[in-house]
Order: sequence, then structure tokens, then C-alpha cells
Amino acid sequence: MRTSFRRGAVLGFVFGSVLLLAGCAAPSVLAPQGPAAERIAGLWWIMFGLAGAIYGAVVALLLIGLFRRRRVEPDSERPPSEGQVWILGGGVVLPTAILSLLFVLTLGTMAALAAPPSDALTVEMLGHQWWWEVRYPDAQVTTANELHIPAGRPVRLLLTSADVIHSFWVPELHGKMDLVPGRPNTFWIEARRPGIYRGQCAEYCGYQHAKMAFLVIAEPPDQFAAWLETQRRPAPTLADPLVQQGQQVFLGSSCRLCHTIRDTVAATTSGPDLTHLADRRTIAAGTLENTRENLANWIRNPQAIKPGNRMPPPDLTAEELQALVAYLESLE
Ligand code: CUA
Repeated sequence: MRTSFRRGAVLGFVFGSVLLLAGCAAPSVLAPQGPAAERIAGLWWIMFGLAGAIYGAVVALLLIGLFRRRRVEPDSERPPSEGQVWILGGGVVLPTAILSLLFVLTLGTMAALAAPPSDALTVEMLGHQWWWEVRYPDAQVTTANELHIPAGRPVRLLLTSADVIHSFWVPELHGKMDLVPGRPNTFWIEARRPGIYRGQCAEYCGYQHAKMAFLVIAEPPDQFAAWLETQRRPAPTLADPLVQQGQQVFLGSSCRLCHTIRDTVAATTSGPDLTHLADRRTIAAGTLENTRENLANWIRNPQAIKPGNRMPPPDLTAEELQALVAYLESLE
């Protein structure tokens, strides 16, 4: 009875492990889209191969032990060295060799990824509870929650935080790097091909940590240059009367106390720069698609969508809200 229970437990363990592994599906670290992520994924596969081989060997030994008929043999007749070979070989020599190999391989990977190549573009990212400020210092451009990069060119990231510790993580492009207040960390990423790669804050930073996402948008170099040029332009001029009214609402309400829209009196930086808000794909740090309806719902009651965030609901009539959304949508 006890033996069959033990066999059942072992088979259940083996089967359960296989099921767990089946959960490791793409898109992930294992679908790398840049040189740094490729290198990390390569190391991961070596570790996985070694761990898999050891796991297989241990399970095989366990099964042999369970199913082999036991010889009844008094201890005194057993040669004393039999057990020691297993203990020294399997418990000391083999782990030391494998861990040393992995240590050397890991150091090699860390060294290879430490410094960005010299032709890198520099971008600054500043973490906030709970959104990302993105600055291109050479072009004097500031945006939020979208990191545009030229595909095929390394990008040096200067990471820091305005409040608590956050962590930059784009699984398809690189590992994680913390954003620490007052202590900038240098990091670099590169996307081999144009594409959109999701990033996520990877260090618990408060209530809305989970809704602190961003997009890395890798574009062909000429498209990236055109995008940067668009961002450098001042906010568009206002022809439509509804849009003009919306600007008055914006500048006359609490909005301007936290946000910047270039060439207006709104010039504070505790919230995202909205100069070209309409160009962005999402609002609220990847929480909502940037549509007219979502924008209106967000402004009407941001606390319902992302409780605890720093944006207070402005006191606006339905008509004012409509004008405000029209204005924000004109900011291309
Ligand atoms: Cu920022 Cu978690």
C-alpha cells in the first residue's frame, strides 16, 4: 500500500513538472529581438539544458530505486565505498563543476552587456508613480510612456526616478534595470528589427505598479528621424473654435498645474508632457488605447480607471469636457 502511494507521488511529480513547463509560452524573454536579449536567452538555454539533464538523471535514479527489487543484505556485507562515491561525486564534484561553468558563462554575459556600443543614441527615462517620462536630450524632446528608437542602432538609456524605485524591463530586448532616485543607472537596448515591444515596470512601486507599462517603438532610422522632428515642433495652432475653447478650459483648470504643453503657460512636469499627446498610442501608461472615448473617460474620472494615481478629477461640465478632449486630440 505504502509503496504504491510512493510510486504514485513520484509519477505525479514528474507529470506535474511537465505541465508546469508547458506554461512557458511566447512572447517572452525566449523570443529575443535584440542582441542583449539574444545573449541572455542563449545563457538561459544552457542553464535549462544542464538543469534538464540533471533533473532527468535524478528522476531516472529515483525510478530505479523505486522499482528495482531490493536485495536484502546486511549493512556489514556492503562495501563501504559504494555510498561515498555517490555522495562525493553527485554531491560535491558534479555541482562544483557545473556551478563553476555557469559562473564563468554568467560573468562573460555580464561583461559583454555592460557597456553600450559607442555609436549609441542617448535617451533619458525618469520613472514616476505610475508613468514613464522619456527625454531625448540632444533633440530637446520630452514625451511619455513611449520610447521611440531607431531599429538596428544601440540606445543608451540613463535611468532614474522622481520618487520611489522602479525597474525598466522590456523582455524581448534586455533584462531588467532599476530606476533609483538620485542615482542614475546606465543601460542599453537595441532592437534588430522595427516593431513594437511592450515594457513593464518590474519593481513593486505602489498601488498601480501593474499599470505602469510603456511601449518601445522601433522604427527604420529615417522614420525615427521624422518622428523626432515632429516632436520638436511646437504644439499645433488652433483653427477650430471648439479646440480654442478646449485650450481655454485646459489653461483655466487644474490641468495646467501638473502638465506641460509647449508654447502655453502650462509648463510643470509632475504629470506627462502633453504637447503631442495625440500621437501616442496609449494613455495612462499603457492602460488604455488613446481614443476619444477613453480620453474623455480618463479625464472625467481617472481614479475609477487607475485608483490611487496622482491625477485628480477636474471639475468640468460636459460641454467643457468635450471641448477639452477636442483640444487634446488636436495635439498631434
Ligand atoms: Cu514603477 Cu513598479
